Order: sequence, then C-alpha cells, then structure tokens
Amino acid sequence: MKTHTLLMPLDMHLHLRDGIMLENIAPLSAFSFSGAVVMPNLVPPITTLEEVKAYKQRIIAAVPNDYFEPYMTLFYKNYSKAFLKSVVEEIIAIKLYPAGITTNSEGGVSSFDIEEMRPTLEAMSELNIPLCVHGETDGFVMDREAEFMSIYELLATSFPNLKIIMEHITTKAAVDMLDKHDNLYATITVHHLLFTLDDVVGGMMMPHNFCKPIAKRPEDLDALLSVALEAHPKVMFGSDSAPHPQDKKENCGCAAGVFSAPIALQLLCEIFEQYDRLDNLQAFVSDNAQNIYGICPEFKEVILEKRPFVIPNIYANVVPMYAEQALNWAIADIE
Ligand code: NCD
Ligand code: ZN
Repeated sequence: MKTHTLLMPLDMHLHLRDGIMLENIAPLSAFSFSGAVVMPNLVPPITTLEEVKAYKQRIIAAVPNDYFEPYMTLFYKNYSKAFLKSVVEEIIAIKLYPAGITTNSEGGVSSFDIEEMRPTLEAMSELNIPLCVHGETDGFVMDREAEFMSIYELLATSFPNLKIIMEHITTKAAVDMLDKHDNLYATITVHHLLFTLDDVVGGMMMPHNFCKPIAKRPEDLDALLSVALEAHPKVMFGSDSAPHPQDKKENCGCAAGVFSAPIALQLLCEIFEQYDRLDNLQAFVSDNAQNIYGICPEFKEVILEKRPFVIPNIYANVVPMYAEQALNWAIADIE
C-alpha cells in the first residue's frame, strides 16, 4: 500500500475556541499535528498575559497527550513596549483584525493610522514578534483582500524589520505580494486550495464551505495552488479551521468558518499527489513554518496511507467540510 510520511506537521492558523467546543475539537488537531498557532478571537479576545497563560492551560488540559504545542497569540491592540516585553516569552505572534471584518473581531483595528500603530509595531519589530494579519477591507466582498494590498505594502515598507504574515490568502494579488517585500509571508488553508466561489454559492448554497475571506475566482485558485505546490519558502499551511456548532451554520444567518482540522492532512496529501508534488508537502506543512517562525517542534511522525476514508458527517456538533465524502488518503499511524 502506498504511504506518505509527514514529520511534525504544523497548523499555523487555527481556531480552538473555548469551553466544551475546545474540549471536543482540540484533541482532533492534537492527534495529527505537532502544534498550531492558536487564534485569539475568543469572546472577549485574548489581550492580557494572564489570559494567554490561562487559555494555554485550558488547551493543554483539553488534549490527551503531550505532543501538541499550542503556539499562543494575542489580539492586536496598540500595546506598550513594556507590556510586550512582559508577554514576549508566552506568545508566537500578535493577530490583527480589522474591526468587525469576521467572527469575533469587533474589538479590532478601526483605522490603519500608521503613526498611531508605530510604537507598538516598532516594539514588535525589536522584540521579533511577528504580526499576523486578517487582510480584508470593508469593501465589496470579492475585492476586500485585493483592496487590502496597499495596507500590506504600507506596513511592510514602514516596518521593514517586522515579520508580517498575510493570513489565509485567497487571491493572486496576495500571491504576487510575496516576492515584492522581504518581510511579507503567507498562510494558505486547504479549502482555499480546493474551492472557488462556485463551491460556496454556484449551485445550492453550501454553508459549510462559507468562510472569511470567501473563496475567489479560478485564477486566484491557480495562483494559490502554484505557490503551495512548489512550497514557496514564504508560504505555510494554516488551516483556519474555524468550528461553529451545526445550528449556527445551518441557519438563515450562517456563521463564517470552515471546519477542516481533522481532515486537513488527508486532503493535502490528495491535492499534492494529484499534481505529483507530494515531495513538497513536508515543506508546506512544517519546514517552511519552522524556518519562518524559528520554531523546533517535538518529534512526531504521521503516516498516511492511500486507502479510502469517508469523512464523518459530524464531529461532536460540528459539521466538517466535505462531510460524508470519500477521500483517497487516511491517517494510518502516529508516532
Ligand atoms: C473565523 C472564525 O470563525 O473565528 N472565521 C472564518 O471564516 N475564517 C475567523 C477568521 O479567521 O476570519
Ligand atoms: Zn482564522
């Protein structure tokens, strides 16, 4: 049987939530990943040292083994340098959301006034704290990411020593930015390597494929595939797996977020095999992230087997993407 081994897979953008949801879904990521960058958009968001430490403890308590590292983040505010020094050892990055642009982002940034942000972003540069950005404006939904490119340029040129990660990119415009500025990097989800807008609303409306940023055009999908499949060194896998209870998705006001964590590695194997690039998957799901963030996860080996695997219709009360569909790859063993 054909197998493919991945070492220390990392999910560089993950929503783990809190309470019962955390307890139900964190073990699924801990099973197949070595670690994950955990998003801070709880209600209320994570903005203090005490909250980061307490949330990390709740995550560790929710996972059944020691082989999963939660890399913690703070929700961006204009923090002081003294505060950042006090928290630097506890976090891997700070996540910036434009106010109101996505789930639980109401307390985000309402204007990109560089002078207002300068003290914080300079302190982050000096302390080597990367800035992860949800890069969307409040414009027309299909143009929001492309419109944000001028803000990425402003940030990248104003703070040349700040590592800026364009999170969950969905456009050719964002792919093109990668080679323009040394300090811009990106995460890409697995669903954005599969979907265009047609997979969300082209036929029946598919609530479980609906997320922010929304999937775009075929030419955007091609651009994302090209940098992911070549494992461009500035690109990392980040699932943006964002669980919502079934009744919040199958609802007349469907929450944004695709739940992919438990099937992400299987799907990635399938995509990379389809394009005959399985050899690049290791760099995309781990090595690039280790280099970009300077992290060294504990050893973990995930062996995938090429055999049929049917995705469950539900995990606890969360419906995954591609529920009940058959994949060609399954996780066979973890060491
Ligand atoms: C995320 C969530 O539900 O927290 N939703 C999403 O559609 N991706 C927030 C986010 O990352 O935008
Ligand atoms: Zn997210």
